[in-house]
Amino acid sequence: MSLKHLATKLFVFDEIDSTNSCAKTLAEADMPSGTAVVAEYQSTGRGRLGRAWLAPKGMNLLFSVVIRPPLHRKLSGLLTFYAATAAARAAEYVSENPVETKWPNDLLLNGKKFCGILTENSYQNEQLRYSVIGVGMNVNQKEFPAEIAGRATSMSLETGKEFSREELFRNVMHEFDLLFSDVAEGQFTGILDEWNKRCRMFGKPVTVDQEGAQVSGTAVRLQVDGSLLLATETGTTAVYAGDVTVARPTNDDIIQYDGSSDLHETGY
Ligand code: BTN
Repeated sequence: MSLKHLATKLFVFDEIDSTNSCAKTLAEADMPSGTAVVAEYQSTGRGRLGRAWLAPKGMNLLFSVVIRPPLHRKLSGLLTFYAATAAARAAEYVSENPVETKWPNDLLLNGKKFCGILTENSYQNEQLRYSVIGVGMNVNQKEFPAEIAGRATSMSLETGKEFSREELFRNVMHEFDLLFSDVAEGQFTGILDEWNKRCRMFGKPVTVDQEGAQVSGTAVRLQVDGSLLLATETGTTAVYAGDVTVARPTNDDIIQYDGSSDLHETGY
């Protein structure tokens, strides 16, 4: 694998606790930007919001990449959208099926989640020291626990094909590398535009669950700071974290957004 910006240091494990935890240890030991950790199985794979990420052995793609773009803390929240866009391009190329983005860090095939991203950043003063980007992509898994079967899927389930995880990984790293020069210059416009084009939730009624507290409204768009703009009954509001559920819209559910109190310009 020949990459222009990212190093090609690769650590492959049969079994590990979490590739993100391992990548963090490697980052602390000064391994270069692009160092990647891949595992066949994770005993304590981690998802967002302290959740577990479970995957059967040898079926999916589980990896983490250390990157070191010279970014201010304020921009580093956008790295998840960089990773999602790169992973979406690769999965779309390999699966030959359209890949959708879901705020903030999911990728969907036919409306179901097949990929989640966990970005963990370390800072010194207000500068990013490194970011560990962890990607869990359901590739050849055929069965899911009953409680998530309605929402979760894999590339294999959606296409009826088996995929080479090695080829997929090479493609994801290639896309990470292609987009890296923009990221290193703090240039996220193209990435956010592509992420937006892939997202199907805009104009639809959604509920964002923020660890128990819920905000409902119509999803308007992704903002330049990575937040999701919602039109609620009391006006527009930006949400920065949480889980989104898209409801089936009735006309009464859709709150029209007239462009007032537009937070789009409040970025950097
Ligand atoms: C989510 O959707 O909550 C994010 C899931 C991220 C899972 C991946 S699997 C590889 C890497 N190592 C981890 O422990 N987590 C990420």
